[in-house]
Amino acid sequence: MVETAVAARKTRVAPSFQKPQSLSEVKLQKTSRMQTTIKEFDRVCGGGIADGSVILITGEPGIGKSTLMLQLIAKTGGLYVSGEESPHQVKMRAQRLCVSDGESQNKILFSPETNVENISSFISTQKPKLVIVDSVQTVWTDNLSQAPGSVSQIREASFQLIKTAKETNIPIFLVGHITKSGAIAGPKILEHMVDTVLYLEGERFNSARLLRSIKNRFGPTDEVGVFEMKDKGLVEVTNPSGLFLRERVKNIPGSIVVATMEGTRPVLVEIQSLVSKSSLMIAKRVAQGVDSRRLQLISAILSKHSKLSLQDYDIYVNVAGGLKIQEPAADLGIVLAIASSFLGKTLDEKLTAFGEVGLLGEVREVSNSEKRIKEAKGLGFAQIASPKDFKFVNQAISKFLK
Ligand code: TYD
Ligand code: MG
Repeated sequence: MVETAVAARKTRVAPSFQKPQSLSEVKLQKTSRMQTTIKEFDRVCGGGIADGSVILITGEPGIGKSTLMLQLIAKTGGLYVSGEESPHQVKMRAQRLCVSDGESQNKILFSPETNVENISSFISTQKPKLVIVDSVQTVWTDNLSQAPGSVSQIREASFQLIKTAKETNIPIFLVGHITKSGAIAGPKILEHMVDTVLYLEGERFNSARLLRSIKNRFGPTDEVGVFEMKDKGLVEVTNPSGLFLRERVKNIPGSIVVATMEGTRPVLVEIQSLVSKSSLMIAKRVAQGVDSRRLQLISAILSKHSKLSLQDYDIYVNVAGGLKIQEPAADLGIVLAIASSFLGKTLDEKLTAFGEVGLLGEVREVSNSEKRIKEAKGLGFAQIASPKDFKFVNQAISKFLK
């Protein structure tokens, strides 16, 4: 148990009740937004960075948060405060990102300041166009005696930065670390305090990076930006299917392409499966890129409702390219990949699948069928296994794996 002191706020004057007004009296103000010219980024934010908004950007260490922030500020200009890296390190990264021309570098003000009162007063007086605080775990306030990074320090420091953003109408980005289990380190309340929470996701040894908005008071939360980490930083990906299918090896049992949705966009990705005789009492079900409980469920459904006897076999399923599929629409593809590996028969390379699988072995409708089909056809997939064609998984297996 750790004691967490709360700073005394001196400005608590007895408030008088704010006079209510009917909503019809309230004048709508258009949120003005700053375009960054990084299209994938603007889209995730809901069409640009809203003035005075506070955006928390999180992700695993080394995934590219600082890189993305530096690329962003190189476009817009502004103040970059970092308690994580030295001016020298940031300059080196800037050079590497080709932000080396004097003009862009002039636009970026760097400070290693970590005291939040100092940061806030600089913002209020100097009015930079945009502020990045990398990371929120390194900033601290005079009002508390705890060490930076403690729950109360993060809460108080963020509170002050949010207040500054609202007073000055300057957008502030807070970079936040996440814990091993994937939660944002620090107080849970941080997510509620900020306007927008963005999550940069990817696998360390894979170049694809997805920027998701988990919460957004100024836009939709179902947009996903796709980037690729290259030696010159993050590059926007306009054709995600192309990125995820780039290294596909064709005509080997266990592989299928599925049509999944990432935000509002359809993306084709390869699902691979390996089914092999188990040496254990209880066979393994190992999933990478799909929920492992989903895989267990699908394995159980197949054991019950198909002619494949998978009980004594280990099943591995992997989504190639490091994408994490979060929707059940990949079920039918997973079923076919498993069956293909088990039977040792290849699926047609021009086949793609989508559809949810139910507990009765039935294939169920999913949303956005038209978008998925259009993407698949556009990329030359001649055969599409969808819920329209099959009522039960068995029928799909016997049709494509004769
Ligand atoms: P970084 O932005 O420091 O991650 P975070 O702030 O999320 O911890 O990203 C660091 C990783 O990105 C590092 O392992 C090297 C890689 N990288 C590139 O591949 N290309 C680049 O141009 C840059 C700047 C970094
Ligand atoms: Mg960093």
